[in-house]
Amino acid sequence: MKANHKKTNKSKLGGQFTFPGTSSPVQRIGYGAMQLAGPGVFGPPKDHAAALAVLRAAIAAGVNHIDTSDFYGPHVTNQLIHEALHPYPDDLVVVTKVSARRGQDGSWIPALSREELTQAVHDNLRHLGLDVLDVVNLRAMFDIHRPAEGSIEAPLTVLAELQQQGLIRHLGLSNVTPRQIEEGRRIAPIVCVQNFYNIANRNDDGLIDSLAAQGIAYVPFFPLGGFTPLQSSILSDVANRLQVTPMQVAQAWLLHRSPNILLIPGTASPAHLRENLAAGELMLSPEILTELDGIAATAVTPKH
Ligand SMILES: NC(=O)c1ccc[n+]([C@@H]2O[C@H](COP(=O)([O-])OP(=O)(O)OC[C@H]3O[C@@H](n4cnc5c(N)ncnc54)[C@H](OP(=O)(O)O)[C@@H]3O)[C@@H](O)[C@H]2O)c1
Repeated sequence: MKANHKKTNKSKLGGQFTFPGTSSPVQRIGYGAMQLAGPGVFGPPKDHAAALAVLRAAIAAGVNHIDTSDFYGPHVTNQLIHEALHPYPDDLVVVTKVSARRGQDGSWIPALSREELTQAVHDNLRHLGLDVLDVVNLRAMFDIHRPAEGSIEAPLTVLAELQQQGLIRHLGLSNVTPRQIEEGRRIAPIVCVQNFYNIANRNDDGLIDSLAAQGIAYVPFFPLGGFTPLQSSILSDVANRLQVTPMQVAQAWLLHRSPNILLIPGTASPAHLRENLAAGELMLSPEILTELDGIAATAVTPKH
């Protein structure tokens, strides 16, 4: 059933990208739902009605790519997405991720057995109110904070089987190394990679270029620094000169960095949402891009 969400011109949301193996493009500026859960990504939102309003405002502005997980809350962001947006617009792509569960204290516990992954896919389906999940990212947990080597064959094989059963359309990977991506691509087609990357944290520069050459989306998490917001005098200077905000420059830089980069900035604020969506209209000259390239060497590296 087609939903009656108000639509506006989508051409400004950073342009479009088509995931490999799909025919319907997504806008390059999407929305990350993690910030809608309570403090520490645990428990309900501070303001339930405001969380629903932000999700609806994103869709009304043309966003058609939302990132979530059933371990945000847990269950909270999926339930909010369901309540705010179901029945979903035909073109909405909801990307979820599996591989962890939450302890009573909010801790993140790896959950990568066949039973846990199967349960997680069914939980995502139920909480989102879907019969099939658009994209499921397998998040590697060899090191919870950064990519670390280790075989992903066993858990990805389980997800590939669930894909063959018709419960998942497409598979992606998160928090992974280039070697793990190669291993994954021998098991199933991979349409996106979601790793930590932003204007100040550029470990994946080479990976982004190689994924771009293969048409695979790169979706940076913490595009604005996450729990440690980006801070840089270069970013602030450029923003002042362009009369925009530093966070808009950081997002415009990502859009300029490579055509396979998709943005999923997270916010619970309607004003920040509008600001983030407007970043797609900001053109950066080659001189400014060169200046911004200096940030990685000088910015404070956030600790997560
Ligand atoms: N795969 C993974 O392991 C993984 C890990 C982390 C996150 N993610 C995904 O990535 C998405 C994005 O990451 P994130 O939300 O953690 O980090 P982020 O987008 O880098 O930053 C979010 C933070 O920036 C603030 N913010 C947003 N827009 C702003 C603006 N225009 N001006 C000033 N502050 C602004 C938000 O606060 P306000 O609410 O006040 O705006 C929030 O504190 C998440 O929603 C989640 O879906 C994936």
